[in-house]
Amino acid sequence: MNYKINFAILISTLCGITASAQIKDAIMVDVARSESKVSPTMWGIFFEDINMGADGGLYAEMVKNRSFEFLKPLMGWNIKGKKVKEGDVLVLNRQEANVANPRYLRVNVKAALKGDVGLSNAGFKGGMGVKKGLRYDFSVRCRQQGANVTLHIELLDEKDQLLGGGILKPSGTSGQWGKQEISFTANEGSGNAKLNIWMEGTGVLDLDMISLFPGDTWKGRKAGMRADMVQLLADMKPGFIRFPGGCIVEGIDLANRYQWKKTVGPIEERQLIMNRWNTEFAHRPAPDYFQTFGLGFFEYFQLAEDIGAEPLPILNCGMACQFNTAEVVPLDQLDPYVEDALDLIEFANGDISSKWGKLRTEMGHPAPFNLKYLGVGNENWGPQYVERAKVFQAAIKAKYPNINLIFSSGTDPDSERFRYLDASLREMKADVIDEHYYRAPEWFLKNAERYDQYDRNGPKVFAGEYAAHVDGKIIGSNRNIWEAAIAEAAFMTGLERNAAVVNMASYAPLFANTEGWQWAPDLIWMDNLKIYGTPNYLVQKLFSTNKGTHTVSALINNKVISGADHLYVSSVIDRVKKELIVKMVNTDGSVKTKEIAFEGVKLAGSGSLTVIKGELSDRNTIDKPFFILPKEEKLKIKGKGTTILLPANSVVMLKIAYH
Ligand code: AHR
Repeated sequence: MNYKINFAILISTLCGITASAQIKDAIMVDVARSESKVSPTMWGIFFEDINMGADGGLYAEMVKNRSFEFLKPLMGWNIKGKKVKEGDVLVLNRQEANVANPRYLRVNVKAALKGDVGLSNAGFKGGMGVKKGLRYDFSVRCRQQGANVTLHIELLDEKDQLLGGGILKPSGTSGQWGKQEISFTANEGSGNAKLNIWMEGTGVLDLDMISLFPGDTWKGRKAGMRADMVQLLADMKPGFIRFPGGCIVEGIDLANRYQWKKTVGPIEERQLIMNRWNTEFAHRPAPDYFQTFGLGFFEYFQLAEDIGAEPLPILNCGMACQFNTAEVVPLDQLDPYVEDALDLIEFANGDISSKWGKLRTEMGHPAPFNLKYLGVGNENWGPQYVERAKVFQAAIKAKYPNINLIFSSGTDPDSERFRYLDASLREMKADVIDEHYYRAPEWFLKNAERYDQYDRNGPKVFAGEYAAHVDGKIIGSNRNIWEAAIAEAAFMTGLERNAAVVNMASYAPLFANTEGWQWAPDLIWMDNLKIYGTPNYLVQKLFSTNKGTHTVSALINNKVISGADHLYVSSVIDRVKKELIVKMVNTDGSVKTKEIAFEGVKLAGSGSLTVIKGELSDRNTIDKPFFILPKEEKLKIKGKGTTILLPANSVVMLKIAYH
């Protein structure tokens, strides 16, 4: 496909347009009618550990089942060696001594040679991604019982060729657990590597928390996050980051709900649970999907801070997922759940004199995280939700009146269930209502005016999860096509136009591993080494990095531009950068030529035009990550207007400096 656009041909200048002229069928952008503030949180990101978003994804740990706590303790591991006999390798359980991490591996080592007894781990999906020349940090918690065992650590490619490794001689007192570490450099790379640990010597060796991290984590933090994944998030300049979900907040049942307190403190004390997406879809079984919480609430807050986003945690409201068990905690036993919410605010904002502020300080962040938003419940519904939401609201507002509380309006935006929740939450005077819509592209096009009539004085709206799904039922990995992205862009012009009421919006889900996804489409796809942003990502980034500070009226023949003649337009002004920004979406299969006239502003004359376009079925892939790509060209504008050519099926942004 030819992406080259000759902007010189596309654009000509309308010198003759006067300030008050109303040009029939032209896009009239009137800065004098600058309407409402665009919230700095307007465009954000939704993070959930689905599709291997955290474990096997953002959390850069390369070893699957490092602590032998998966349902099957040796899942992910192979026992290797010529000399291994029945009973030499046992899974031990110290339940009473260590509730969070009870299991460990005991190896009775009688190995004269490397190759006699060992373990192997092939990572999360399709092997481990290893990069040539990169440092790798191996660590293990171990205990020797009068033993003298040497560990040979090796990274091998799919043909068993050595990529790198080292020798670790555990030190420390006999009979005591201790962390042992070794770093080495990979001399070659592979997308499908495995880790071997050979034991040499004699004696009883206990092993736990066997871990391998790449040296190139985000900000070089030890045991940190995959830098390429964080970078794509940072590039979006998101206004907020919602975490940890999504349905995993609710859990399959209450016992398996997300409990933030179990995700903070030393990682070996964080109790893993089965990921809710492990068993959810029969067509995409994921029996090895667990949440280790190496990426826990401290790390989420830190990530938010790193990328300049407001942290937006969502907490369980005393209800398990209503698509699963639908368990609810009795109202008279809701206190621990409410307590969790109050304690979380203290963890984020409290000082060192408070219990949870102290923990945050000990974890390395004495300054508060400055939490302002908190969600209560994910996709919960019914009177049982409203009853519980009210209890949370009363308790949190009494102690922290300035925290903005977000409540869920369920799973869908049109039903009786939605109307009941929306009315109830408005009656409660909720600060923000969280709406979700996974719908066909046509729904997004029809609903671009959804918020035009919303009450400006009522609760704000958080479009907390949305994505255009090009087919109704089947979930397929090839659905991040331009048709979906362009429909979302059209809809987003409606969100932007209604920034007076819509304060936050996030596409969902965020990440998907090409080898280990459960749900598609998703915003960003990655394998063990590579990553790409979908066309949907490009649209999100375009809006987010050009959000402006105030909306500006953009009309054709005095009407909002929301679907007539397949055109969708919104406009904002950035009063800090002194830029006027017009976003135009042409969902028509043919080119349009549009005049644009600007009123109420003195243009500086320089600007840029960004175009994203494609065939409706186009998409990016791991091998062609930039198949669809925005093209930007500088332009000069003389006078008060210009003519823009909008290619077929395109998203076009005009940005002009003003005095
Ligand atoms: O984004 C995937 C899932 O969709 C979320 O976990 C849930 O909130 C919604 O149903």
